[in-house]
Amino acid sequence: MRERLEQLEEDALRKLSAAADKDIVTELKVRYLGRKGELTSITRELSKLPEDERRSLGKLTNDIKKRLEEKITTLLNDFSVKEQEDSLKSGILDITLPGRRPPLGRIHPVTRVMGEVEEIFLGLGFEVAEGPEVELDYYNFEALNIPKDHPARDMQDTFYIDNEILLRTHTSPVQIRYMKTCRPPLRVIAPGKVYRRDSDLSHTPMFHQVEGFMVDEGITFGDLKGLLIVFLQSLFYKDIGIRFRPSFFPLTEPSAEVDIRCLICEGKGCRVCKDSGWLEILGAGMIHPEVFNSVDYDSTKYSGFAFGVGIERITMLKFGIDDIRLFFENDLRFLEQF
Ligand code: PHE
Repeated sequence: MRERLEQLEEDALRKLSAAADKDIVTELKVRYLGRKGELTSITRELSKLPEDERRSLGKLTNDIKKRLEEKITTLLNDFSVKEQEDSLKSGILDITLPGRRPPLGRIHPVTRVMGEVEEIFLGLGFEVAEGPEVELDYYNFEALNIPKDHPARDMQDTFYIDNEILLRTHTSPVQIRYMKTCRPPLRVIAPGKVYRRDSDLSHTPMFHQVEGFMVDEGITFGDLKGLLIVFLQSLFYKDIGIRFRPSFFPLTEPSAEVDIRCLICEGKGCRVCKDSGWLEILGAGMIHPEVFNSVDYDSTKYSGFAFGVGIERITMLKFGIDDIRLFFENDLRFLEQF
């Protein structure tokens, strides 16, 4: 048996040294070391031998196996190095060719403007809060003075999970969540995704808002107006046309909508501003006493304002984009422009 083993090693090493290429080495590997290989079948026979013989021959078998494996690995390695050198020499492999750069992604324009809005408000002493996109009817409507049968719900039809759970239609529920846990004075913005059953040139079923609110003693509509003017001028880096229009929201009283001069047509009228020359970009007002009641704030002591800005709208104006749906089509020809 010992002789058979030694003979086998000698044979194998000789054949390996004579091997002309990788394939032959691989073939020999299977022939000697494979599951049905010669060395493997000897190992199997070993188990029938008496104990002391089995031990010494077992060791020899293992040593041979190790030596053959080492030899095979070295040979395979040498062959691949040689292959590379050959292809370099023959010019098949051109190492001077520049590699392929993976294309770099970019920040989505909506995300970018959202970041700019946050920066401006952080600079004005506001802090950033967040709330869930899957929201309770209570926070989204009820606590904001929009009861179940209120007609204002029609403008904010949404996607219901069940009777009491829905996708939030605005970022205003964060007002309630925040005020329930903190006491005035407070200055907060709450950016995020909102959902409505809407879809056309200027509406998508999902869009982004940034809510802002400030509560303290003695806050007035003048504070709201001043803040929004500073905000819009910093965002657009210039004196843009801004107008406040009286409006209605159940959560504020008095309420206003803010329009800015359409920057796409410079106020001449286009499909985005529906020929009016103005674009509505935010809703605002003084927080309604009923809203303060639902968070147990004393509305005779505190006052405050709130506003909600549509981020896609201001992004369209900033970059002269005339169709809101472009933001969500994921067309690289569009996205690469930012
Ligand atoms: N949440 C209102 C909307 O999306 C906007 C708004 C926010 C109005 C804050 C007043 C105060 O329609």
